[in-house]
Amino acid sequence: MTDTTSSKSSNQMWGGRFAAGPDAIMEAINASIGFDKRMATQDIEGSRAHAAMLGATGILQASDVDAIREGLLTVLSEIEAGEFAFSTALEDIHMNVEARLKEIIGEPAGRLHTGRSRNDQVATDFKLWVREQLDATDTGLCALIRALLAQAEAGAEWVMPGFTHLQTAQPVTWGHHMMAYVEMFGRDLSRVRDARARMNECPLGAAALAGTSFPIDRHMTAEALGFDAPSANSLDAVSDRDFALEFLSVASICAVHLSRFAEELVIWSSAQFRFVALSDRFSTGSSIMPQKKNPDAAELIRAKVGRIFGANTALMMVMKGLPLAYSKDMQEDKEQVFDAADNLMLALAAMTGMVTDMTANRDSLAAAAGAGFSTATDLADWLVRVPGLPFRDAHHVTGSLVALAERKGCDLPELSLEDMQSAHPGITAEVFDVLGVENSVASRLSYGGTAPARVREQVARWKELMS
Ligand code: ARG
Repeated sequence: MTDTTSSKSSNQMWGGRFAAGPDAIMEAINASIGFDKRMATQDIEGSRAHAAMLGATGILQASDVDAIREGLLTVLSEIEAGEFAFSTALEDIHMNVEARLKEIIGEPAGRLHTGRSRNDQVATDFKLWVREQLDATDTGLCALIRALLAQAEAGAEWVMPGFTHLQTAQPVTWGHHMMAYVEMFGRDLSRVRDARARMNECPLGAAALAGTSFPIDRHMTAEALGFDAPSANSLDAVSDRDFALEFLSVASICAVHLSRFAEELVIWSSAQFRFVALSDRFSTGSSIMPQKKNPDAAELIRAKVGRIFGANTALMMVMKGLPLAYSKDMQEDKEQVFDAADNLMLALAAMTGMVTDMTANRDSLAAAAGAGFSTATDLADWLVRVPGLPFRDAHHVTGSLVALAERKGCDLPELSLEDMQSAHPGITAEVFDVLGVENSVASRLSYGGTAPARVREQVARWKELMS
């Protein structure tokens, strides 16, 4: 057995009642500095707002506040320059910053923690961090939507097969397919904005859990940190991680959308489909098969939802059943969110790059659009519209013509008029007009339909929204 008894003295921040320092294993399980150092900027920003408020309310003397402000800027510059020595014994970013501040400015550093606790401090830091990620997601989604709009605009009238069950269903346009993803990522964008608006309340000043007896001004710190208001219940303020859960939920749904699109790109770029060519910049080769150009970025984007939704599940489980208010369990929130955020940003950027660079293969799309009896519904609709058949009968007649074409090994437009009339005598030569894919898509003018005119309207609407 390893002897893990520590000969260290008790913790300089909270060790007043302790005779001995922590066991090494205790230190290892307790410390979060290894990851929460990513919140250094937010921690210092929160402390600067808190100190300024303590000065403005007369709780601290101006000279102490000045020393704290200057000292915190020095700490920040040390961290930014990579010169800061993070200490595991000091547990987390909050105590690392405060201890260094003490080394730099001495006694006034000990006054910074007046009227606050690490519980409201960490909630504030983490909210600031998550808020930045929501803003970065907003930016990333806008870039992706713009890339999709450019594709949709260029190919508003290019025909391609539309699928249900991954079986050819009806012809659609390339622009329409791109715009389907614009709608999906547009909903993600609206979820990001909803979440940001809802989370923007400041926990700082809730102190450990009950508020404080010092005459602090929570409105002042909330405003200084860009929050809309201070949170209204101190117990809730220190124990709330909804903002992180909501970020992870929004990120998970977005990652699901990214994975669906990535899957289509993997299929479309295969030799069997050839619907798109991905650029060299977003593809890789094989070390053994010289002919290969693999859609690795798309595959990795397809996979990212695993860890992002995993983080969502993990934090849901961490928070489940926690009694009010703060519990150390909640320290397990950060790594999940950090990892999910990093990977979501990467996936959004990679997808935007791929969409910007990809070239649709118009000929393959058009050839596939007409295959597989894709205009059978147009034929049935024509039978309703012209000879006036009930739709069910029209469906049946069309089905028999599809079977005939299948027996003859041809597509619907290649059947003769006599073949057509053998299924229903009311069919005239005009029917051939609706069997072409271009006419098929042009006829789907219902609102939200695939007709190029409709697609252009939607592109214009989205361009306006994104401007
Ligand atoms: N490192 C801690 C966390 O991330 C900070 C809060 C600690 N609070 C406490 N009462 N021990 O949650």
